[in-house]
Amino acid sequence: MDIKEVKITEVGPRDGFQSEKTILKTEDKIDVINNLIEAGFPRIEVSSFVSPKAIPQLADAAIILDNVKRNSNTTLAALVPNAKGALRAVAAKLDEIVVFLSASESHNKKNVNRSVQDSLTGFKEIADIAGKNNIPVQGDIATAFGCPFEGNISANKLADISKEYKLMGFKGVTLGDTTGMATPPVVIDAIHAIRDKVPDLEITLHFHNTRGVGLANVMTGLNEGITDYESCFGGMGGCPFAPNATGNICSEDLIYLLHEMGIKTGIDLDKIISIAKKVENLVGHKLPGQVMRAGHRLLSYSMDEVPTAVGA
Ligand code: COA
Ligand code: ZN
Repeated sequence: MDIKEVKITEVGPRDGFQSEKTILKTEDKIDVINNLIEAGFPRIEVSSFVSPKAIPQLADAAIILDNVKRNSNTTLAALVPNAKGALRAVAAKLDEIVVFLSASESHNKKNVNRSVQDSLTGFKEIADIAGKNNIPVQGDIATAFGCPFEGNISANKLADISKEYKLMGFKGVTLGDTTGMATPPVVIDAIHAIRDKVPDLEITLHFHNTRGVGLANVMTGLNEGITDYESCFGGMGGCPFAPNATGNICSEDLIYLLHEMGIKTGIDLDKIISIAKKVENLVGHKLPGQVMRAGHRLLSYSMDEVPTAVGA
């Protein structure tokens, strides 16, 4: 593997906050996003311009974009489900629109209340609005590595949708592992099928750690030469419209792994650890991240802090 640099998108303000029952204060979200920008993330999913009835947690997307301290090194992206969302995103001066559908009909119906074909048709309208306003579009595919209602997803289906994305001029495809069903062989099949059909489309991987193999899937992606990944502070996250959806791969754990392997991310590990701790306080429950608790591997402790095992 000769990858020297990886681009990480922090999805916490979207994927993380949408999965919390309590709605965080807008000012707290803005503070967290400002901290993420300062920590050096090249791309952040800051919110969603979806229906506030579907995701009330993210109803304040426009206020957030209006108030965060923007920096030309960080692209601010958000999910957009339809033309109404695209117009809201344009008005809020969003840097990048992310459209999304599910590879499976049943999850697409649950998540956006329409068929996959109707989603694709609607994306043309979004792409048109985005194009007129010079906003790039990224195309997500949720349930890309398995669907909680339909099981396996054919890699050819992912390739077909990716081809449609390419034809609509999208900058890339993100494969979302909504309920953590990806495993290394499934990931390899998906990447190969897309590369065969759409060789010049950039692939981003978005894993959830639902079954504990999130970082193993990242290692698989790296071995396949993929350099774009999405993750969430503290390992929060999950889709409210999928059963047993749990957290994304954790940003600090991913950044720790990559830095230990000599792969640059441009992100300050100490800063993201303190953001994860701050978010843990805000949400009021323990987050699954591990490096936020254990710290760096060479953290040194005084021997006086630990009791000595004595037999007597
Ligand atoms: N922004 C704000 N409001 C929106 C909106 C948007 N992008 N899209 C629709 N609405 C409003 C409509 O104006 C309408 O409001 P009204 O009842 O006051 O008239 C209401 O939402 C329903 O709109 P409709 O077009 O009938 O949509 P729907 O009920 O079939 O829902 C979606 C479709 C796509 C809007 C909705 O399912 C959605 O937002 N899903 C997002 C799910 C998500 O983000 N999941 C997590 C990410 S994986
Ligand atoms: Zn996710």
